[in-house]
Amino acid sequence: MSALQKVMGWVDDRFPLTATYKAHLSEYYAPKNFNFWYFFGSLALLVLVLQIVTGIFLTMNYKPDAELAFLSVEYIMRDVEWGWLIRYMHSTGASMFFVVVYLHMFRGLMYGSYRKPRELIWIFGVLIYLALMAEAFLGYLLPWGQMSFWGAQVIVNLFAAVPFIGEDLSIWIRGDYVISDATLNRFFAFHVIALPLVLIALVAVHLVALHEVGSNNPDGVEIKKHKDPVTHIPLDGIPFHPYYTVKDIVGVIVFLMVFSAIMFFAPEMGGYFLEANNFVPADPLQTPLHIAPLWYFTPFYAILRAVPPLFGSQFPGVVAMGMSIVLMFFLPWLDRGKVKSIRYRGPIYKIMLALFIVSFVGLGYLGLLPVTPVATILAQIFSVIYFLFFLLMPWYTSIDKTKPEPERVTG
Ligand code: HEM
Repeated sequence: MSALQKVMGWVDDRFPLTATYKAHLSEYYAPKNFNFWYFFGSLALLVLVLQIVTGIFLTMNYKPDAELAFLSVEYIMRDVEWGWLIRYMHSTGASMFFVVVYLHMFRGLMYGSYRKPRELIWIFGVLIYLALMAEAFLGYLLPWGQMSFWGAQVIVNLFAAVPFIGEDLSIWIRGDYVISDATLNRFFAFHVIALPLVLIALVAVHLVALHEVGSNNPDGVEIKKHKDPVTHIPLDGIPFHPYYTVKDIVGVIVFLMVFSAIMFFAPEMGGYFLEANNFVPADPLQTPLHIAPLWYFTPFYAILRAVPPLFGSQFPGVVAMGMSIVLMFFLPWLDRGKVKSIRYRGPIYKIMLALFIVSFVGLGYLGLLPVTPVATILAQIFSVIYFLFFLLMPWYTSIDKTKPEPERVTG
């Protein structure tokens, strides 16, 4: 027995190291037909780690104080060695997190990955998405620029639209009558520790649930239905390590090339990743002419603005915005289709999914623009399609003409 084997034996007698390695990597069998769309889970994991590590380094020089915050970010950019790189990694990482997560969620919609038995993987996913939005919103206040300040002002004011308790609620969230130093301090606390802990915990249970039932795949066929009679290994499964670890490394390299290209050559991404107005220090006495959230929030912002106020209250818009996310939780039970994957779905589901994506992207675009009558009508049409995708799903998935699902995965 080699020295290494002896050490491993010693550890294994006290901690399930080899057993865990086998159960989750070398003897974890994943469908053999994963395609491009299966890169984004591991990429989301990569970006999560990147955000945490760069965030720790930013915290070493950032000052959560309304007098110093803006200047401390400028100090990081100009004087801290490699500070500009750390900051751009973190700001680019924030937007790329949403790019990756949106593609990851779209894959789920295409292949019906939210369907039985993966309902909890999906629900944990939607909770991750909510936590991620909260994390990004809180982080955006920290540079204490004009957009940080006024963006937070607009969003926290939405809570004031809640009947009866709204006013008190918004003061309670801010810790003041306006966004102030007290708000900055609590947003900092939530951004650097509370929500990252929530995110890590949610990602952990997301993966535990995934490994309990196993991955879906582009055919939507359950590989556990056909196992080798002797070894009990799924016939269409391959060990995660080395096959998918190597495949994922290819994804990571391509992703890091794209990431670096943005970070080094266009970190502001034409105002989509970092807004010009946020290079101006926060001024509570001067409201910017046009306030828009960053691109990943704009679909929901557009839904909010599409709903007309009732008796001068924005509450209906706030409810619609909330419902547009809450509906996602119910997806596993709204879908009555006979098959999971888009490959075997009928034309109605394909058309509805296409309309849904067009509406979501359309809303995202409209949410960036100032309000005009035409933009409002378009946003109303897209919002109706967005909601109908969910609300009519039990009906159109059950009447859709599906193709027969194969017994085993193809290709
Ligand atoms: C920090 C964010 C997230 C991380 C790190 C993460 C991680 C992962 C990983 C590593 C996988 C397995 C690899 C893969 O299938 O691509 C996975 C699968 C899955 N994730 Fe996520 N995820 C995140 C967010 C989400 C969100 C927001 C949703 C949906 C709302 C979601 C829904 C799913 C589903 C349904 C699967 C199973 C897919 C299948 O088997 O076809 N995830 N996730």
